[in-house]
Amino acid sequence: MPQALLEVRDLSIEYRARDATVYAVSGVSFQLAPGEVLAIVGESGSGKTTVGMAIPRLLPGEAAVTGGAIRLGGTDLLALHDAELRSYRGRRVAMIFQDPVAGLNPVIDIGSQVAEILTSHLQLDRKEARRRAVDLLYRVGLAEPERVARAYPFQLSGGMCQRVMIGIATALDPELIIADEPTSALDVTIQAQILYQLERLRQERGTAILLITHDFGVVAQVADRVAVMYAGRIVEEGPVREMLKQPLHPYSHALLATLPRVDGARAHLHQIPGQPPELTRPAERCPFLPRCPKALSRCRQEPPPLLEQPGGATHRVACYNPVWQDAAG
Ligand SMILES: Nc1ncnc2c1ncn2[C@@H]1O[C@H](COP(=O)(O)OP(=O)(O)OP(=O)(O)O)[C@@H](O)[C@H]1O
Ligand SMILES: [Mg+2]
Repeated sequence: MPQALLEVRDLSIEYRARDATVYAVSGVSFQLAPGEVLAIVGESGSGKTTVGMAIPRLLPGEAAVTGGAIRLGGTDLLALHDAELRSYRGRRVAMIFQDPVAGLNPVIDIGSQVAEILTSHLQLDRKEARRRAVDLLYRVGLAEPERVARAYPFQLSGGMCQRVMIGIATALDPELIIADEPTSALDVTIQAQILYQLERLRQERGTAILLITHDFGVVAQVADRVAVMYAGRIVEEGPVREMLKQPLHPYSHALLATLPRVDGARAHLHQIPGQPPELTRPAERCPFLPRCPKALSRCRQEPPPLLEQPGGATHRVACYNPVWQDAAG
């Protein structure tokens, strides 16, 4: 694997409420190379957003990082002071959120919001910042950038707001963009255009992208690798092609089986029976066990570690009884 840009190692995060602790992320490790797109997929509540927000340290106050390390270009992000962190955010790592309208200030015009990020990090006068802001809006595919710059968020569609957010996220040419469900609020055509924008960024600027999504269609379209999360853990991680062809974890297998197939072989979506576990206690067994068709007695004893697979050093799975064993006889 090429030199990692982002390295997340053994990351654990809890949310501490007065009467309960939620073990939202448990021992998550992954790497991201420059210019690479890694997708994180998983059901609602599996911890995707918590991992994404932890990287630029945007977690809410009730969240506590209880273990692990996050390194960007070798720098330990968890050790940065507030001032250093502010200079990192935007400049080296930027975030795109699911709800673009909520991410923008309703009472400030778009041009000023884009210019703000430029003047806060670069020595630019207001006129130059405005000019660059309009240029950024043009580059994210907004047809009339001057008009958009004068508009307020409520005057734009969701897709336009999301482009503005991408413009803001890319204004300082960060090495890493974390995009949390960037297209799920948008219709299919706009979704495709936004994904194209992200793909272009990666190609033209070599930006690495951590793409959080629950949509395997999006994954197949833009990601190089995919990490499947379940109950706060990565249960499988590997190259997209390999994962789509031969998912090893029974959960990934079930997740992919719920996709409609292009050849129409599976016209009906079926849900995976059962519920993910409550996260109010640290896991003492495989969290997928109650829903797993392939469970062994060993799966009750301790959660399986995420290990590399023979023949596929970049394909890792956390399972004592992965699916390929069936195929191999
Ligand atoms: N502020 C919070 N306080 C307490 N628990 C929280 C908080 N935010 C998230 N959680 C819990 O942490 C777990 C992980 O949540 P997270 O939002 O990271 O999941 P997700 O995979 O992003 O889900 P979704 O697909 O719905 O966005 C869930 O059990 C969630 O209920
Ligand atoms: Mg989320």
